[in-house]
Amino acid sequence: MTNAPKPSPNDDAIREHVFDGIQEYDKRMPNWWLLTFYGAIVFWIGYWFYVEQSNLLPSDGARLEQEMERIEAARLASSAGNLDDAALWQMSRNAVFVDAGRDTYNTTCASCHLADLRGTDAGGIGPNLLDQTWIHGAKPTDLLHVVDKGVLEKGMPAWGPVIGAKKNSEVVAYILSHHAEPK
Ligand code: HEC
Repeated sequence: MTNAPKPSPNDDAIREHVFDGIQEYDKRMPNWWLLTFYGAIVFWIGYWFYVEQSNLLPSDGARLEQEMERIEAARLASSAGNLDDAALWQMSRNAVFVDAGRDTYNTTCASCHLADLRGTDAGGIGPNLLDQTWIHGAKPTDLLHVVDKGVLEKGMPAWGPVIGAKKNSEVVAYILSHHAEPK
């Protein structure tokens, strides 16, 4: 190129190639650009490992299931008060209620019915809650009623006034979680 400007000593070197009479300086990428570029690569490695490889996050399926249980729990809880057998069976298949019921059971009921629910069959005071024999009826609402009102003359306290309706339904859901819903 004959009429190309002479590079001054402060300029970067001019690259050799020429396109349509245009030449370019051999510029270094600015530091902020390089930092962003390499930073993005480092971030990507960490992100890829955490999200794709590490199993530290719950899977989408598990998150969906949890969320569905939570929604179901909110729906059932809002219908508390007129709980029927079907609703109690549903609660017994929902970890939100069963986990809460287990807590209540272990603090309030296990002293007589035992932690494994086997009751008198394993040396407890209250009857076995795992078998198919029910003194006061096998329907979920029967259990709810017994727990609520108790059988005072036989030594089963009335728990309704003590633990309230919500915990009552949860603890029944916990008992039912050990049983299969009759077809
Ligand atoms: C002080 C001991 C005691 C405690 C504590 C106790 N129960 Fe009972 N429970 C009994 C006895 C005794 C019976 C048997 C009543 C009968 O023979 O009619 C019984 C009966 C029952 C029944 C009916 C069983 C059937 O066959 O029909 C259920 C359900 C029950 N209990 C649930 C619970 C729950 C839930 C709790 C905790 C909130 C609890 N019990 C706490 C002593 C207890």
